[in-house]
Amino acid sequence: MRTRLFASPGALARALAGNIASALAAQGGLVLGLPTGRTPIPLYHEIVRLHRAGRADFRHATTFNLDEFLGVDPADPHSYRAFMQRHLFDHVNLSPRRTHVLDGATRDVEGECVRYERAIDRAGGIDLQILGLGTNGHIGFNEPARALIARTHVTRLTPATRRANAAIFDNRVSEVPREALSMGMATILRARRIVLIATGAAKARCVERMIEGPVTPRLPGSFLQLHRCAEIWLDRAAAARLKPSRDGASHPERAGRLARGARGLRPSVIRL
Ligand code: GLP
Repeated sequence: MRTRLFASPGALARALAGNIASALAAQGGLVLGLPTGRTPIPLYHEIVRLHRAGRADFRHATTFNLDEFLGVDPADPHSYRAFMQRHLFDHVNLSPRRTHVLDGATRDVEGECVRYERAIDRAGGIDLQILGLGTNGHIGFNEPARALIARTHVTRLTPATRRANAAIFDNRVSEVPREALSMGMATILRARRIVLIATGAAKARCVERMIEGPVTPRLPGSFLQLHRCAEIWLDRAAAARLKPSRDGASHPERAGRLARGARGLRPSVIRL
């Protein structure tokens, strides 16, 4: 896994939005995997800004979201579908036919999961999967467990994850569904390139375990260690517990240096 450090969440969001815009320019029919959560909000904001400036064209792009609450209608303002419409889809030129979010209101859960896997296959697989990270190490809604499920499936949310998602439900944990639909670990790991983003001190411990600890289903994010093209993009706070680099630079120094480098990053160097 390659780690990139940025001076702030804003710097990270700007760099990744630019990177995605370049990937779109290089490959019009780009297939993107997208997360929800607080972390990607500045990223979506930056992407919308680039789109308005004529620098991010989604005309031929396709998107697949990672997960959705079970029992929540797509039209419900608490759904992840509604979140995506609000923060991204309503503001860019993505064809509604090509924005895919699992249907949380489905009566045929198994069928919905199979359909989702087939739709990803038909689109040619995911070129670039953006991920967030739960404070308990989950990615998508693949929760820490004794074993992980490979393909898109229904999953039971842990109390910690329900608490973390309470903000979407007017801070009422009891309103957060107990189950969700999620891409599986193999679905995620099949993406050609993965960028996981994590910002803020609350993620630091988990980031440390994900990067420096063993590969374990107790921390699903650690499976990214097995991917040949996975990048972890962090702000200083989230990187605070990583071991100092071999050149002896302290974390803030290293973060500052890399962030300055990142500003000059040529997004066109992405290899998909
Ligand atoms: C939810 C989503 C995850 C996301 C996580 C992190 O649980 N299902 O895909 O990565 O939140 O959220 P945040 O970015 O708010 O910390």
